[in-house]
Amino acid sequence: MTRHVVISGGTGEVGKQLLALVADRPDLSVRALVRRPGSTRVSPQIQEVPFDYEDTAAYGPLFGPPCDLLLIALGTTRAKAGSDEAFLRVDRDYPLRLISALAATHPEARVGLVSSVGADRARGLYLGAKAAVEEELAAQGLAHVIARPSLLRSDRAEFRPLEATLNNLVAPLWLALGQSLFPRSYGWWRWAPVHVREVAAALLETALALEPGQRRVLEGLDLHPGPIARWGKP
Ligand SMILES: NC(=O)c1ccc[n+]([C@@H]2O[C@H](COP(=O)([O-])OP(=O)(O)OC[C@H]3O[C@@H](n4cnc5c(N)ncnc54)[C@H](OP(=O)(O)O)[C@@H]3O)[C@@H](O)[C@H]2O)c1
Repeated sequence: MTRHVVISGGTGEVGKQLLALVADRPDLSVRALVRRPGSTRVSPQIQEVPFDYEDTAAYGPLFGPPCDLLLIALGTTRAKAGSDEAFLRVDRDYPLRLISALAATHPEARVGLVSSVGADRARGLYLGAKAAVEEELAAQGLAHVIARPSLLRSDRAEFRPLEATLNNLVAPLWLALGQSLFPRSYGWWRWAPVHVREVAAALLETALALEPGQRRVLEGLDLHPGPIARWGKP
């Protein structure tokens, strides 16, 4: 049976990995929301849908067609957005609108959300936005999985100075120490840099396996593959 998936943020680093994974899944029919047509890779399973997140009237019709799973990998930075308000629109308000429109039309659907490590003890603009979306998911009662990665590793073309510095200097040391000294330390791996490929794979696999009403949180060892992987742990 074909399952219908909507991906928001499919042009981002995690989102591109999600699209690469679903492109190999003939059992999935995917609509990828984009700001600019021609932004995603072509595949028989993937249809690009130009979407204006600012248009509040567009959210209801978006879920007129069937939707079994909504994957949200939207995000920006405060610097790129230009103001706190603009940042919150992307990282908080657009996901909230998507979730609420989905709950109103397909209450049986699942959601997979890319959040952030620390969202469960939120302080400040960034984590506050992540926490608000996580809380809304719980409040709406939709089955969902939340990935809470630490620093993302990827081949990002855009230069983000802090991310690049941490990835080049801190990440290799952090991962090497973790593998040799703390292979099963949940606290260590919770803050460990993680590749976007691993986040996407864990999120998709867990989201597709969700039972009605279930909630999963993936962080730390859950997001690191190999013998220590525990994807889908309750
Ligand atoms: N970077 C990290 O180290 C890190 C760590 C933990 C958690 N996270 C979280 O993980 C998630 C995914 O991160 P990522 O690095 O994969 O994100 P990303 O590469 O920055 O991609 C962001 C996505 O959001 C879309 N987007 C940005 N601004 C938008 C706007 N104004 N309107 C509509 N869409 C917009 C982008 O679309 P366009 O291609 O059209 O711009 C893109 O599809 C984010 O929520 C981020 O906060 C990141």
